[in-house]
Amino acid sequence: MTDAGRHPRIKLMTLSEVEEVSGYIGNFRVKVRQRARYVNEKECTACAKCAEVCPVVVPDEFQQGFSSRKAAYIPHPQAVPSAYLIDMEHCLGNNPVACNKCMDACEKQCINLNMEDSQVELNVGAIIVATGMAVYDPTALDEYGYTRFENVVTTLEFERLICGSGPTDGHLVRPSDRQVPRRIGFIQCVGSRTQNRGNPYCSNVCCMNTVKDTLLIKEHYPDAEIYVFYMDLRAFGKGFEDLLNRSREAGVHYIRGLPGMVTEDAETRNLRLKVENTTTARLEEYDLDMVVLSVGLQPAEDLKSLASRLNLSQTSDGFVQESHPKLRPVDAPTPGIYFAGCVESPKDVKDSVTQAGAAAARSAILLNAGVVKSEAIKAVVDQARCTSCGVCARVCPYGAIRVDVKAKTGAQVITAACAGCGTCAAECRFDAITMQHFTDAQVLAQVDAALEEKPEEKVLAFLCNWCSYAGGDLAGTSRLKYPASTRFIRVMCSGRVDESFILRAFEKGAPVVLLSGCHIGDCHYISANHWTMRRADRMWDRLEEMGIRPERLQLEWISSAEGARFADVMRGLEEIRQKVTPQEIEQGKKAIAEYRSRKAKDAGKEKEAEPAEV
Ligand code: FES
Repeated sequence: MTDAGRHPRIKLMTLSEVEEVSGYIGNFRVKVRQRARYVNEKECTACAKCAEVCPVVVPDEFQQGFSSRKAAYIPHPQAVPSAYLIDMEHCLGNNPVACNKCMDACEKQCINLNMEDSQVELNVGAIIVATGMAVYDPTALDEYGYTRFENVVTTLEFERLICGSGPTDGHLVRPSDRQVPRRIGFIQCVGSRTQNRGNPYCSNVCCMNTVKDTLLIKEHYPDAEIYVFYMDLRAFGKGFEDLLNRSREAGVHYIRGLPGMVTEDAETRNLRLKVENTTTARLEEYDLDMVVLSVGLQPAEDLKSLASRLNLSQTSDGFVQESHPKLRPVDAPTPGIYFAGCVESPKDVKDSVTQAGAAAARSAILLNAGVVKSEAIKAVVDQARCTSCGVCARVCPYGAIRVDVKAKTGAQVITAACAGCGTCAAECRFDAITMQHFTDAQVLAQVDAALEEKPEEKVLAFLCNWCSYAGGDLAGTSRLKYPASTRFIRVMCSGRVDESFILRAFEKGAPVVLLSGCHIGDCHYISANHWTMRRADRMWDRLEEMGIRPERLQLEWISSAEGARFADVMRGLEEIRQKVTPQEIEQGKKAIAEYRSRKAKDAGKEKEAEPAEV
């Protein structure tokens, strides 16, 4: 942090919050709110006279509440800039009757309690999101007694207790009586790897953090008895197994089994743990002076709102979704945005530093190149057909389309920002948007070709490139068998599949049509498959109105790893196909023809009529 603060080409903006982000790769505009510090940071020499006279005392967040701070304070010893700030939430205000002591004490007159927040606008070419993580709050796990028993602490609190710059100068004491604990227990996986009482994922760092803590304790207090209660120990990574072995050799007891209950002796404040040791298959009890809950990591609290401002998608765990887990692990799906650290998933310092280096390098490559090379698949607006209705701008997951609905100037595509998902083209009711590649004409030609012969024996499947098509590939390379009746049409995203493609398939006599893409939340174009889902809903209603059984249109989410599921889905489709009668197919064809001519007449607009024949 200090190095970053000193670097001539890095501008650190502390107490700042990103309020709005607009623009696109190479040309982002970021509005930042800088909260008032109430101290002139350039003049402040950190003499601490303001803090000395400040009468307000509040728990110190950095020290996890084990010590206190004043309303005039420096957040932590390594804070940059090394200048005081006023915590206005607790400050008694600048009313001289109430206080004003800090202003009187400051010889350099740095304090201005009337300072206001300011807004800064920045033009940047790339953005790296590195907002870190939060830790799980174990208060809800009542059986461990956190907040009920003073000597039950979390790993983060324990970290402060053994840290040289902590409230006890690194002397380990237990909170209830300031005595050195002789018997310490660590409970692993608190709030991690659970379906209903915390987070379902492994938090990645807790096992090795505990191993490190046990070695630290043994180094300073060799006589301490240490017990680690775990369900699995995950010591993967370079040197980690050695570290675990060192801890075992140092006499730390590793017990496989998570305690069911922690109780406290009200007089001695000692703790008792009951645990089923699954190695010995015995119920055991342990008397301890202190218990450390190894709490898991979770997304930072304000990540959701930041993600919506930056147009990022989040996984079901709440962390941000990378563009591709193997090939582009530090890239956001939105070009020009990169990730570093726990914003993407729980990770240790080494992995965070590696990812930060990669994100910095990715940004440098982009900025040094000076030009952006992107895929040729882009949306193109036919201005003669565009009515400036604004639907395309609303559905674009990248904010790559601008429309002035009032001025009716027509939709404008920002080519650098367009990722080519095709959702805008599929949603445009006036056929005013075409895609470069995967044009309507090309896809319709494929539909026609696939159903040219014996269409009643075929199932037509529209598959997104990244997941469903790759799932089909996996099924193929895994030599999985599925019916030969299926015909696949690859599109970049399921969001590209226009209603007219589906209607054309039924019109050509397809008994069953499949629409398939990535699982919700995994779409490679942020949220484009949400529009697929809505469109499918609309289509089912429309088919029903036309007298076509809605089951003839199927929607399935298949990931690239689900080869077996892909084959299963294809077998299911074949079963549906066999139940569709030739009469149904013929009736459907007629209904669609009537629907098209009715639409063309009603609207009186050729824009809504049948797409051009290929
Ligand atoms: Fe697969 Fe969007 S990329 S559904």
